[in-house]
Amino acid sequence: MNLVGSFFLSTIGRKIIMALTGVILIGFVVGHLVGNLQIFSAPDKINGYAHFLQSLGPLLWLVRLGLLACVGLHIWAAAALTLDNNRARTTPYGFKHTIQATLASRAMRWTGFVVLAFLIYHLAHFTVGAAQAKTFKTNLAEYTMTGEYHIAGVPVVAAGAKVHDVHSMVILGFQSPVVSLFYIIAVGLLAMHILHGFDSMFQTLGLRSNKWSGALRAVSIALCLAYFVGNLAIPGAVLAGKLQPRSEVRAAAQR
Ligand code: HEM
Repeated sequence: MNLVGSFFLSTIGRKIIMALTGVILIGFVVGHLVGNLQIFSAPDKINGYAHFLQSLGPLLWLVRLGLLACVGLHIWAAAALTLDNNRARTTPYGFKHTIQATLASRAMRWTGFVVLAFLIYHLAHFTVGAAQAKTFKTNLAEYTMTGEYHIAGVPVVAAGAKVHDVHSMVILGFQSPVVSLFYIIAVGLLAMHILHGFDSMFQTLGLRSNKWSGALRAVSIALCLAYFVGNLAIPGAVLAGKLQPRSEVRAAAQR
C-alpha cells in the first residue's frame, strides 16, 4: 500500500487529519466572528465586507470547497476512529466508568452533530435566504454604500455601490427569540467542542506535558469563552434592543 493510503488507514494518521482539519475550521470560525462583529459598527462595514467576499468569485468558491472538504474529512476521521475503537474492544466492559475524560469525548459526538445541524440551518438562513424575515424579501434587501469600504487601507468597495443588506438581514433574523436561542445554544456547544478539540489536538501532537497541561487548559478555556461571548453578543444585543436595523428597514418592518 502506498504512503498516503497507510496514513489514512493508521490511527495516528486519522488523528493528525482530525487535528489539521480542526485547526483550519477553527481559523474559519474565528475569522468569521471577527468579520461578523463589524455589525456593531455602521451598516457600511458589514455590508461592504460581505460584498467584498462575494466579489471574490471563483476564489470564494475555492475556499468554500476547501472548507467543505475539511468538514467531510473531520467527520470521516472521527467516525473511523470511533469504529476502530469499538472494534478493538472485543469484549464489552463489565462496568462502564464514566470518568471526566470519557464524558468529554462522548460529548464531542453529540456537540458535533448539533453544530452540523446548526450549520445546515445557518446556510439556509443567511446564505441561501430560505428562512428570512418577510420584510426582507422586498427591495430593502439592497443597500447603497455611503462611503468606501477598506481592507488594510485599500479601498475594496466603492461609495454608492449597491450591495446586499446583510446588516438588516442578520438583525431581522435575530429578532425571533427562537432563532436567537438556537444560535446561542449552537455556538455554546461549538465552543465546548473546540475546547475538547484543543485537548485532543495537543495530546496528538505530543504538546501536553505535565508541566504545561494546566496552563494550556486555562488558555484554551479563556479562548473558547471569548469565542462564545463574541458570538453571543450579536443575537444578545438584538434581543436586548441594542442592535436595530437602519431606520428605513425599521419603518417598513413596523408597517
Ligand atoms: C452569531 C453568529 C453568526 C452570525 C451572525 C453569522 C452570520 C453569517 C452571515 C450573515 C452569513 C452570510 C454572508 C453572506 O452570504 O453575505 C454567514 C455565512 C456562513 N456562516 Fe455564519 N454566522 C454566525 C455563526 C457561524 C458559525 C458558528 C459557523 C460555523 C459553525 C458559521 C459558518 C458559516 C458558513 C460556513 C457560511 C457560508 C460562507 C459562504 O457563503 O461561503 N457561522 N454567516
